[in-house]
Amino acid sequence: MSTQSLYSVPADIAANALVNNEQYQKMYQKSVANPEDFWGEHAKRIDWIKPFTQVKDTSYDDQNLYIKWFHDGTLNASANCLDRHLASKGDDIAIIWEGDDASEQRKVTYRELHAEVCQFANALKAQGVKRGDVVTIYMPMVVEATVAMLACARIGAVHSVVFGGFSPDSIASRVIDGKSKLLITADEGVRGGRKIPLKANIDEALSRPDVTTVESVIVLKRTGGAVNWVEGRDKWWHQVTDAAATDCPVEEMGAEDPLFLLYTSGSTGNPKGVLHTTGGYLVYAAMTHEYVFDYKPGEVYWCTADVGWITGHSYMVYGPLANGATILIHEGIPNFPSPARLGEIVDRHQVNILYTAPTLIRALMAEGKQHFDKFDGKSLRIMGSVGEPINPEAWRWYHEVIGHEHCPIVDTWWQTETGGILITPLPGATDTKPGSATRPFFGVQPALVDNEGNILEGATEGNLVLLDSWPGQMRTVYGDHERFVLTYFKTFRGMYFTGDGARRDEDGYYWITGRVDDVINVSGHRLGTAEVESALVAHDLVAEAAVVGYPHDIKGQGIYAYVTLTKGTEATEELRQELRQWVRKEIGALATPDLIQWASGLPKTRSGKIMRRFLRKIAANEITNLGDASTLADPSVIDTLIESRLNRA
Ligand code: PRX
Repeated sequence: MSTQSLYSVPADIAANALVNNEQYQKMYQKSVANPEDFWGEHAKRIDWIKPFTQVKDTSYDDQNLYIKWFHDGTLNASANCLDRHLASKGDDIAIIWEGDDASEQRKVTYRELHAEVCQFANALKAQGVKRGDVVTIYMPMVVEATVAMLACARIGAVHSVVFGGFSPDSIASRVIDGKSKLLITADEGVRGGRKIPLKANIDEALSRPDVTTVESVIVLKRTGGAVNWVEGRDKWWHQVTDAAATDCPVEEMGAEDPLFLLYTSGSTGNPKGVLHTTGGYLVYAAMTHEYVFDYKPGEVYWCTADVGWITGHSYMVYGPLANGATILIHEGIPNFPSPARLGEIVDRHQVNILYTAPTLIRALMAEGKQHFDKFDGKSLRIMGSVGEPINPEAWRWYHEVIGHEHCPIVDTWWQTETGGILITPLPGATDTKPGSATRPFFGVQPALVDNEGNILEGATEGNLVLLDSWPGQMRTVYGDHERFVLTYFKTFRGMYFTGDGARRDEDGYYWITGRVDDVINVSGHRLGTAEVESALVAHDLVAEAAVVGYPHDIKGQGIYAYVTLTKGTEATEELRQELRQWVRKEIGALATPDLIQWASGLPKTRSGKIMRRFLRKIAANEITNLGDASTLADPSVIDTLIESRLNRA
C-alpha cells in the first residue's frame, strides 16, 4: 500500500474492534460470493415475527426490474427499535436531548420512549390513520420527531418527513405527491436562537387550493408562540396523547411493505419520493451503524444530521435505536452560540461517537482552533463524515482538533437512495487516507464505468455504479416506477447508476469526485439545478435562468445563477436581492443563490440547448481552458459572460 498520507488503524482500536482488516477481507469475500448466506445470517440481528425463507430476489434488468429482500418475512420496525430492548435495557437512556438553549436538557429511557410512541400511535389511530397511509412530518429536532416516526412505523403508516427548512410550497408538493391525510408539526422550531414558524408554514402550504387531502394537523407545543388555529382540523399533540393508552400492539408488516418516503432532488423535475421498505432497510441500517461506527453497548452516539434527511433517518433513528444505542439529539446548530458548542456538547454528554458533515467542520475551522482550547474530548473514540466530499485539509483539522489524533475517521459515502452507508472505512480494519471514502461495505459491489458503460479496471476514474443490490436499497420512486427505472438503471444497463463520479487509486480505495449530473451539493444539502431555475423563472421579471454549482470554501458548493431579465427590466442590486429572497421563499433558505450574474444571453447550441459546461467553468473562475465554443449559436456570449463573472477568487 502506498504510504502517502496514510493513517493506520490505531492499535487499541484494532484490538477491540468488531472487525479487523483480515476479518473484513474474509467477510467481504463471503458477502459478494454468496449474498444469500451472508445476508440470511446477518438478517438475524433483527427480530422477525415470521422468519423469511427467501433472502434475495432482485433483478437489475431494466426490462424486468425488481428488488426484494427477505420478502416473505414479517416484522415491525418500531418493535425492533423499542420493545425488544425493554427487558434488558428498559431503564437505559435511549435519547439524550439538548435544546438550542443549553439550559434545556432531557433524557428519555427506552421504557419511556416506548410508552410515548405507543401513546402517539394510539392517537394516530384515533385520528383515523391506517396501515399504508402516508403521514407527513414537519418537525423541529425534538424527541417528539422520533416519537412520531416510530409511532407511524408501529401502526404500519408510511412517514414522509419534510425538512423543517423547506418552504410552504415545498411542503405542499410533497403532501400532494404523498396524498397525506395527516400532518404532524410544532408551533415553532428553535434554531440558533431564532424561532422557525413551522405551523405558519403548514397553514400556508395547506391554504393552496391544490392541497386537498389533509384532514388533520397535530401540533406539538414547543415554544408556546402564537399560532392560527383551524377548528376541527388542528389538534394539540398533548390533547390527543394525554388520554391515550401507553401500550399499542404492533402491526405485523411484510418485509417489503413501505416504511417511509423521503423526497430528494434529481437532475430534472420535482423532487422524487424515495421509497424504502421495512425488512432490508432495517437490517442494513442497523448493521452498518454497528460496524461502521464500531458501536459498543453503552456508548453515547451523536449524529448531527437533521431528521429531515436520510442521515437522520438511518443513523439518528432506525440504525442506532435498533441496536439499543444511546443517541444524542441536539435541537440547534453545533456552532451556536459559538463554535465552542460542539466541544461542549461532546464533553457534557461524554459522547463516544460523533457523526457530522464536512461543511460544519469547515465552518469551525474558519473560526479558529482557539474555540477548542477548553475542549477535553477524551470520551470520543470514533468520528464520521457524511454528505459531501471532505477536503483533506478539513479531514486533518477534524482529526487533530476534535479527534486529538487518536480517533479514526470514517468518511462514509452513500445517498438517500441507498438507505445506508455503501463505501466507508471500518474503524478497526481500514487504514485511512484524508479525502477517500476507501472501500465498500459488505455486500456492496462498486465499479467505475466509462460513458458507454464499459467497466474500467485498476487505478482509474469514471462514473460510479453498483453492480448488484444490497438490502437497504430504495425500491421505487413513489407513484412513478418508470422514473425509478429510467433514473437509475437505464444510463448503464444492468447497473445502478449513482450520479457520482469517482476515482480508484492503486490500493483500490475510492475517492468520490462529486456529482456528474445536474445535482449540486450545498452544505451537504442536495439540490437539483432545475429546481432553482424553475423557481427563478417563476418571477415575473426573469426571462431565463441557468444555475450551476461552484466551489465554495465553507459550503462545498455554492449556487451560481445566470439570469436573463425580461426586456426593459433594469438590472439593479435591489432586484438581485429580491430574486435571492424569492428563491428562498419558493424552495427554502438552503436554495438561496449565492451569486446572481446578469446575463444578456446564455451559451446555447443552434438547437437551443444550454451548454452548461461553459457556465460551470465560468462560475468556477476557470476561464483559461473553456473548450470549443464553435458549436454555439453565438460564441460571443462567452466573452460577455467571462467579463462580468462574479467569482474571481
Ligand atoms: O454526491 C454524493 C454526496 O451526496 C450525495 C447524496 O446526497 P443525499 O442523497 O442527500 O445523501 C446525503 C447523505 C448520505 C451523493 O450522491 N455524498 C454523500 N456522502 C459523501 C458524498 N460525497 C463524497 N463523500 C461522501 N462521504
